[in-house]
Amino acid sequence: MGKLWSGRFQKETDRLVDDFHSSIPFDKRLYKFDIEGSIAHAKMLAKCEIITIEESKEIVQGLQEVLKDIEDGNVDFSIEAEDIHMNVEQLLTAKIGSLGKKLHTGRSRNDQVALDMHMYVKEEAKEVLQYLRKLQETLLSLAEKHINTVMPGYTHMQRAQPVTFAHHLLAYFEMFDRDVERVQDCYKRADVMPLGAGALAGTTFPLDREFVATELGFGAAAKNSLDAVSDRDFVIEFISCASLIMMHLSRFCEEIILWSTAEFDFIELDDSYSTGSSMMPQKKNPDVAELIRGKSGRVFGSLQGMLTTLKGLPLAYNKDMQEDKEPLFDAADTVKKSLLVFRPMLATMKVKENTMARAAGKGFTNATDMADYLVNMGLAFREAHEVVGKIVLYCIENNKDLENTTLEEYKQFSSVIESDIYNFISVDKCVSARKIYGGPAPETVKECISQKREKLSKNEVL
Ligand code: ARG
Repeated sequence: MGKLWSGRFQKETDRLVDDFHSSIPFDKRLYKFDIEGSIAHAKMLAKCEIITIEESKEIVQGLQEVLKDIEDGNVDFSIEAEDIHMNVEQLLTAKIGSLGKKLHTGRSRNDQVALDMHMYVKEEAKEVLQYLRKLQETLLSLAEKHINTVMPGYTHMQRAQPVTFAHHLLAYFEMFDRDVERVQDCYKRADVMPLGAGALAGTTFPLDREFVATELGFGAAAKNSLDAVSDRDFVIEFISCASLIMMHLSRFCEEIILWSTAEFDFIELDDSYSTGSSMMPQKKNPDVAELIRGKSGRVFGSLQGMLTTLKGLPLAYNKDMQEDKEPLFDAADTVKKSLLVFRPMLATMKVKENTMARAAGKGFTNATDMADYLVNMGLAFREAHEVVGKIVLYCIENNKDLENTTLEEYKQFSSVIESDIYNFISVDKCVSARKIYGGPAPETVKECISQKREKLSKNEVL
């Protein structure tokens, strides 16, 4: 079949060009949105008396049949028809005859592709939000079980101060909470309907853009025709949200990988979320966590790619913009698959409370608490810091912990230290004394979890 735009051409496009510029191999996945958009457009054309009601009905029915044919796997898309928009139009015309040629009245592929992309991003955003919420629920359930599981908190990858595993998990809850807000916000910008912008300058037909927007569940119609067809901010925003989610998952995976080493031994991944080695029979590897960490790179790459593609584009549509699809699709697929596999991997891992607690008791994680004790006894914090620093050095040289250093030994460093010091610096006490808002004390964390549960139960994703 000839090209839908072949009128002013005297030669066929070269086969190499067809292969090079056709987007159908990847934009065919937009078929559902493309057809829904066309159905709304056809209804509107009749409402505005641009085509008759009978014509509109026939077109709509034809489009519904095309949709069914595609879904039943009965359609071979054609490279010569270039993209999903012209493929659908050709399929329609093949079905209902020349009436199909009226569908494109007052429309361009430029506003059509923008519409499809807006619809796609809205749907993906909704799905990502659901996955994020599920993950947050899993985090809360896991945290509930580990309110009293003491573990070392780190700075510079050195043991710093004791926290609890619940508190650590809730840090990730906060990250995913910000991700939820970002995706919700991105959704708002995707929720703008471009049809009616035409190729760039609107159309002479009196289209009812509000009707199409409502019909397709959009909040509003785009306000400027040039912007409507040139804007891909919402694509970049979505990939940017996906990048941050992947970055958060990747940090979490990095910790899971470290925790599952023999050196840490804080967790053991379930067999169903681990893999073996083809050579070393003893190996159990955290491949899933590594792969999520690895896949973050391709999503960041998509973000960089899209920014670069758009940065030099003059208004309005340029074919460069066809390059928006693969990075967007890949980012959406990757973030969804990662969220999907990460959640059960987390939920099924075995947490080794005893090793965590033992590690929290080593490495002088209670040294700050000892300094705080001295402050309570009247020393300035900087003096207290110096005294405890000397005590720690003494302990290291004499192979001791703060817990088993005698009062007599302590007195050599500061006369104000009394026997109540041992209670003050016990690891459990170090945690439970941090009742401060946002801190790790079990009672604080418990309260925090119930507030979050409450918020999750009330908060609709969209
Ligand atoms: N396949 C094209 C894309 O994805 C559709 C729009 C084509 N418009 C045009 N004037 N060539 O961007």
